[in-house]
Amino acid sequence: MKKKDVHVPIEEIQRQKDFLNRISAINTQFYLQNERRRTACTRTYGCQQNENDTEKIRGMLEEAGYKFTDDENIADLVIYNTCAVRENAEMKVFGRLGILKHIKEKKPDMLIGLCGCMAQQEHIAEKISKTYSHVDMIFGTHALYKLPEILYSAITDKKRMIDIDVSDGTIAENLPVKRENTSKAWVSIMYGCNNFCSYCIVPYVRGRERSRMPEDIICEINDLVKNGCTEVTLLGQNVNSYGKDLHLDIDFSDLLKMVDQIEGIKRIRFMTSHPKDFGDKLIETMASCSKICRQLHLPFQAGSNKVLKDMNRNYTKEEYLQKIAKVKKAIPDISLSTDIIVGYPTETNEDFEDTIDVVKAVEFDSIFSFIYSRRTGTPAAKLDFVLSEKEIQRNFNRLLDVQNAISKKKNDEYVGKIAEVLVDGVSKNDKDTLSGRTDSAKIVNFKGDLSLAGKYVKVRITDAHTWSLNGELV
Ligand code: 5AD
Ligand code: SF4
Repeated sequence: MKKKDVHVPIEEIQRQKDFLNRISAINTQFYLQNERRRTACTRTYGCQQNENDTEKIRGMLEEAGYKFTDDENIADLVIYNTCAVRENAEMKVFGRLGILKHIKEKKPDMLIGLCGCMAQQEHIAEKISKTYSHVDMIFGTHALYKLPEILYSAITDKKRMIDIDVSDGTIAENLPVKRENTSKAWVSIMYGCNNFCSYCIVPYVRGRERSRMPEDIICEINDLVKNGCTEVTLLGQNVNSYGKDLHLDIDFSDLLKMVDQIEGIKRIRFMTSHPKDFGDKLIETMASCSKICRQLHLPFQAGSNKVLKDMNRNYTKEEYLQKIAKVKKAIPDISLSTDIIVGYPTETNEDFEDTIDVVKAVEFDSIFSFIYSRRTGTPAAKLDFVLSEKEIQRNFNRLLDVQNAISKKKNDEYVGKIAEVLVDGVSKNDKDTLSGRTDSAKIVNFKGDLSLAGKYVKVRITDAHTWSLNGELV
């Protein structure tokens, strides 16, 4: 049976681009009358996938004639690209929407849009349309490519626009993209997730797994290289599933090998891998392709086999540890990171000890740990908690203590060594310091001239902290 093509037809993309031209004409008119260009402010919550989506939003807005600002107080258009993975991400957005209400009272012509994973949930979209009447546009992840049409209607009809079409999701190629960093880029290779981990909202808000065509990915990376990019991070909720929905006899390892061949690319990263699908072929590929960074993010979520089963993760603690052992054997200096959830409803204190066990056994370079957050519509949302909030918080703090000591120890191993660093720019905390990353994704801070941004430099590591390294240019 022929598979349904999930691509948004090129004619539809062109139709959206026509809306961008129309908005651009309106914005030019505005410029001529007001002697200033209309400004847009975008904010991103959540994961790299969202960051990448915002780059597309900004690409479209730039073509529509907007100038960018970071200040909502002066922006003519504000768009929040939201995350629904945990409740605190949603609370932040609700808080910001409250502030925007006051700003809009003083600037009634301002347009406000809310998009992304929060907007894709029906109960949230309903709450926003009822309680936050100052939000002009509400559109979900599946409607991202329709932003031009939605924005055009909001400008010209002055009517509130809502598009949270429920679907399995599409792939929209050829949207304009505006990236801030020219030397490194995120490249989505697939969208959606089929795994339905029992705690997770992602499959409900991002639709089913769908892979981009390899030639579209390679073409995007070739264009990036032409613009000075040397490092790409291939993105997907579960990159190990890449290609399974294409009838092309290609898997993620094959794709990595194709990217490895691209002249001009020096570093390849990817995220996220699912332990159940992470196999020997990928390990061999990582070990044999020189451009693939010696870094792996492999979320294990929980150490207890009972909890893993309840979470619908489809692997055991032992299988996870075996896979890590294989990776370490094939790539001895690999830097490892993971995601961990503390306080899944069925997790007991004894189960939590298995999580600590895995953390101590693997010795990750870093972990991303989260307290379980109940998500409406997921199977786990119906469960009662075994542990109290206080016990969960205590376990969470203990996990951080255990990991911080390991992270520091791992970073100490770098002291005295020389590392190759791709310079990002000035450090966030200190304007006089440059910051960059090693192949193993460690942050390195050192003194140097800003003209080094985007270049690879050798840095001798002088001292180590829990989260970063300090060094001096060699
Ligand atoms: N509560 C807490 N953490 C979650 N994650 C996903 N869903 C939830 C939830 N309901 C975490 C997982 C995932 C990471 C992106 O977010 O660890 O790997
Ligand atoms: Fe969520 Fe699991 Fe899919 Fe990751 S693999 S996005 S945790 S459902």
